[in-house]
Amino acid sequence: MQSKRVKMLKNFAIQNQSLTHQVDVEKHKNERAERLMIEQSRLAIMGEMIGMIAHQWRQPITVIGMLTNNALLDIELGELKMDQLVEDLESIDKQVHFLSRTIDDFRNFFRPNKLPQSITLGEIENELMTIVGKSFENNRISLIFEGDKNTHLVTYKNELLQVFLNILNNSKDAFLENRTISPTVCIYLNEAEDKLHFLITDNGGGINADVLTHIFEPYFSTKSEKNGTGLGLYMSAMIVEKHLHGSIGVCSENSTSTFTIIVPKTIDEKGHDVY
Ligand SMILES: Nc1ncnc2c1ncn2[C@@H]1O[C@H](COP(=O)(O)OP(=O)(O)OP(=O)(O)O)[C@@H](O)[C@H]1O
Ligand SMILES: [Mg+2]
Repeated sequence: MQSKRVKMLKNFAIQNQSLTHQVDVEKHKNERAERLMIEQSRLAIMGEMIGMIAHQWRQPITVIGMLTNNALLDIELGELKMDQLVEDLESIDKQVHFLSRTIDDFRNFFRPNKLPQSITLGEIENELMTIVGKSFENNRISLIFEGDKNTHLVTYKNELLQVFLNILNNSKDAFLENRTISPTVCIYLNEAEDKLHFLITDNGGGINADVLTHIFEPYFSTKSEKNGTGLGLYMSAMIVEKHLHGSIGVCSENSTSTFTIIVPKTIDEKGHDVY
């Protein structure tokens, strides 16, 4: 009797061990899949960023090229005036500073924050305009911010900006696809007790009900493979829910799409592991 019980207990322990092992293997697989998705989404956003840098750089590079050619022509014609040359070199120097600043802005963006930071709506507006401003302007898209510019929150700034960027990129894609007349994105900010509500609305044609139900799923995209990985909103939801302790939702009516992001005014923690 005793030995039968011992045998049963032994079997039980073996089964238990094998189950624990299986759980560990599955956990490991999930972690790998998640890391892969994060990597893919980073690459996708990097691709977008390179496009945006190209927009930001086009004008200063043209100015530098023009000033240099003018100076060379003046030298060739023997008409070079020293004061004009100094003025041109100063302009070139200003443009070079601008180019180098954009690189810093974009590089900072790719460094996820380890600690929550205080940021105002006004600063969010400035940061977003630095990144998407030129590309939106070149596509004649208006980006409007409404709400008290001094409202501040304490959060993981770069992660929040990444979520805004994903949503803004989707709006831009919708405008281009539907050839929207007067394309406009509005970001409204409302305060409610200890939370902040961001509403991001675009008039890019709206989102069909069958798309809405899958929109936050990984790899869900209605775009061609080269234009969309389907990870933008999945990652955004992960960031908002897991890292910013908030929630994200979407609705669509009358050819408009509205994303809602609710985040605490202050994230109450001492930092997190950068994913
Ligand atoms: N503002 C919007 N207007 C219309 N459709 C939208 C909008 N935002 C999202 N969608 C739809 O939701 C889908 C999923 O968006 P998501 O950002 O996750 O992926 P994606 O844009 O296709 O690819 P990427 O990973 O490059 O962002 C899009 O393919 C698009 O069909
Ligand atoms: Mg997207």
